[in-house]
Amino acid sequence: MKVLHVGAEIFPLIKTGGLADVLGALPQELRHAGADVRLLLPGMPAIADAMLHGKRVCDIGALFGAARVRLMRGQMPYSHVPAYVIDAPYLYRRDGGPYQSSDGREWPDNLQRFALLGWVAAHLASGELDPAWQPAIVHAHDWHAGMACPYMSQHPAVPAASVFTVHNLAYQGLFAQADFPLLGLPQRFMSAQGLEFHGQLSFMKAGLTFTQRITTVSPTYAQEIARAEFGFGLDGVIRARGSDVLGILNGVDRTIWDPALDTALAARYDADALQGKALCKADLQRTFGLEPNPDAPLFAAVSRLDQQKGLDLMLAALPTLLEQGAQFVLQGTGDPALQAAFRQAAAQRPSQVSVYIGYEEAQAHRVVAGADVIVVPSRFEPCGLTQLYGLRYGTLPLVRRTGGLADTVVDANDLTLEDGTATGYAFDAASHYALEQAIRRAIAHYRQPEVWRKLMRRAMAQKFSWEASAARYMDLYRSLAHGASPHA
Ligand code: ADP
Ligand code: GLC
Repeated sequence: MKVLHVGAEIFPLIKTGGLADVLGALPQELRHAGADVRLLLPGMPAIADAMLHGKRVCDIGALFGAARVRLMRGQMPYSHVPAYVIDAPYLYRRDGGPYQSSDGREWPDNLQRFALLGWVAAHLASGELDPAWQPAIVHAHDWHAGMACPYMSQHPAVPAASVFTVHNLAYQGLFAQADFPLLGLPQRFMSAQGLEFHGQLSFMKAGLTFTQRITTVSPTYAQEIARAEFGFGLDGVIRARGSDVLGILNGVDRTIWDPALDTALAARYDADALQGKALCKADLQRTFGLEPNPDAPLFAAVSRLDQQKGLDLMLAALPTLLEQGAQFVLQGTGDPALQAAFRQAAAQRPSQVSVYIGYEEAQAHRVVAGADVIVVPSRFEPCGLTQLYGLRYGTLPLVRRTGGLADTVVDANDLTLEDGTATGYAFDAASHYALEQAIRRAIAHYRQPEVWRKLMRRAMAQKFSWEASAARYMDLYRSLAHGASPHA
């Protein structure tokens, strides 16, 4: 079955978060499961310049303000997954991030940049751009690829079915309604039943409304987004889609996140030989300038610093954690006020708190491996990958019970310790009190080495594999391909 995955980030070339990890891993796993998967990516320099064996497929001509648009085909480095890359230098070839300039401002032409991505997806699906390969399924990820769905739905010659995956409903791709004519769609799309969203137009809503099936990255988040509390104004749209909405958990890419093979670490280890983890902890304490104390419980967070992630709760809970003789390491970027507050906390207690403002992939591995506990106190979390990496590395996740965090971490209480299912700590209220209680419980268990070792082994035995997720996507594709009929 031919499946086209459409997205804006891919590990290790462009990454602002977990979406990149998913697009780096899932297509490969689907290929192992027998699907003929290709990627479609925008030709940002980091992608266009890294593509292997790039060949021109066709000249598309002038589109969305770009005088020259070409479609290239090659392979992704490392994974060798076949990929189409849109060569449109006017829209994509610039320094800065995929969505924002280096000074943090949205690119003013994001509407054109991501409309083009959707347009090319639809015209690959119609067979016009590459007659040699026509997908049965177009799988679009997040608002960046959302426009694939309306373009497919109004194209008379697209037999492919569409799947739209929500990785995060908080980012919606909102643009001025006055720019609607730039999209080249019939006026009827600019309605409450179409792209219109409170006086603006929304690429996320475009995906949600015009796709055949919606998936999101955990079963709990699939339910949460049907409620006003988590819907960011789109819960009504989600509810209207009823049983077309499905949650499929993300997995861990074991070729990249495996403590027994990870070359970024000071030492490697596995569940049967945990000595290496102690060396990783010592290395982390040394490189982050903390007191080199093997008995101090070491908590860590690797995260975007954003309202979603709840690290303000962690900041408020920090005094409790330090009082108990624990240490805290943070690697993250985002909200300037939070960055400054964490820096200040580190300056006040340098032997117990250390902060790296920035993102460095190899260091993320060393933090996850060296810590005892990975803290993910998110207000909402579609899936979350860092808690899965924590489980894999025997670094117990301490999470807020929401979204994918609720689906992947089993709180260590009397019952779950007794029946051997506990894998971490979970709390409910989005308050620092609730977080502090969970921290206290974790530290109490940490001080009982036998209990802790059991928990670590149990965590490391969890299998959140891409293989299982890929099997579920394959079922979905098959059901759609069999029932697929041309769009109206
Ligand atoms: P999200 O995608 O919401 O940030 P996930 O837990 O799904 O959350 O994915 C986080 C991934 O992004 C992990 O691989 C993590 O190491 C990485 N990451 C964390 N913080 C940053 C950051 N500031 N910039 C880029 N990647 C980050
Ligand atoms: C988003 C979500 C995160 C999820 C990731 C990959 O960035 O915030 O929870 O794990 O996408 O699906």
